Amino acid sequence: MDGKSKRHYQLSPDLTMCRIVNGMWQVAGGHGQINPELAIKDMLRYHDAGFTSWDLADIYGPAEDFIGQFRHKLSALKGKEELDRVQALTKWVPQPGSITPSFVNESVERSLRRMSVNSLDLLQFHWWDYTNPYYMDALKYLSDLQDRGIIKHMGLTNFDTERMQIMIDSGIQIISNQVQYSIIDRRPEVKMAPFCLKHNISLLAYGSICGGLLSERYLGRIQEPSPAELDTLSLRKYKRMIDAWGGWNLYQELLSSLNQIAQKHNVSIANVATRYILDRPAVAAVIIGVRLGIVDHINNNEQVFNLSLDKSDCDAINSVCARSNNLFEVIGDCGDEYR
Ligand SMILES: NC(=O)c1ccc[n+]([C@@H]2O[C@H](COP(=O)([O-])OP(=O)(O)OC[C@H]3O[C@@H](n4cnc5c(N)ncnc54)[C@H](OP(=O)(O)O)[C@@H]3O)[C@@H](O)[C@H]2O)c1
Repeated sequence: MDGKSKRHYQLSPDLTMCRIVNGMWQVAGGHGQINPELAIKDMLRYHDAGFTSWDLADIYGPAEDFIGQFRHKLSALKGKEELDRVQALTKWVPQPGSITPSFVNESVERSLRRMSVNSLDLLQFHWWDYTNPYYMDALKYLSDLQDRGIIKHMGLTNFDTERMQIMIDSGIQIISNQVQYSIIDRRPEVKMAPFCLKHNISLLAYGSICGGLLSERYLGRIQEPSPAELDTLSLRKYKRMIDAWGGWNLYQELLSSLNQIAQKHNVSIANVATRYILDRPAVAAVIIGVRLGIVDHINNNEQVFNLSLDKSDCDAINSVCARSNNLFEVIGDCGDEYR
């Protein structure tokens, strides 16, 4: 067994997750006003629909608190056992500076308290500045917490292949790296995915539907959307990526090609974009941002699990992308956009 089913992925023997993860950056501000009560109600709906995995971070506003409140509510409604079906994958994103064991302990304890858990399913570590070498100290202290069972698994986010090699050489055990990965941004294919396959590390992909830009909403739009229309941080972030990739005209060609594939399979453009990334080597899951209490795409995204892309679909996508700029050359390896 390769650890994959249609809906689930076994990230490690004791951690099975949904291959579409609910992304919680969208509750952190810049994506519309979030009403906490409606947000928790929506979290229960996602869970009931089988979307049981959550991606969050200590720096995503109230996201960790929402997980805590959601867990209390879920337990009250369905019993404690139901909590075993939830996977909450948080991140630790410290400010650059020196790192001490007590600082690491306090940071992790804060997340445990906020999320109302005794241990973290997966802690994904982010580091802003490679010229500051303390990230290896941080990983060492996190490993100590893992030895004590406080962190079940260690993952990374936005680390490049070079730094991951250093970690592997130092004996640090990592099971995942969360990176931007979409039909537009294929940088992980160059070095990261082959490295991950070799070392049994999984990729968690974000930005795979470009904040919603990879959807019917922008199909056939000759005029580029104005900055005012791009009303979430996510849309603005990925519009910049499209500009670097090849611009709006080529993007429209891609959307048109994706639309033909979507119609052939009776699904949406977002479904095709998600499936394409889920099928890439080393990819465990795609994280799709959720604007809790505002809008949901639960039913539509469910269709991803029944969609199979054939060779002609992939060829059509690849032939448009062959005319784009190479983002690995323009930006660099995974995560270099943050440095
Ligand atoms: N590690 C990092 O540095 C990092 C960076 C960015 C994101 N992330 C993670 O990845 C998550 C994903 O966020 P993202 O910014 O990359 O956004 P994304 O997942 O590419 O886009 C999310 C948006 O796509 C739209 N959408 C979702 N399903 C759709 C469907 N079936 N059809 C049409 N539109 C659909 C929704 O827009 P509407 O709500 O407008 O309908 C949703 O808000 C974040 O929440 C976070 O957990 C991590």
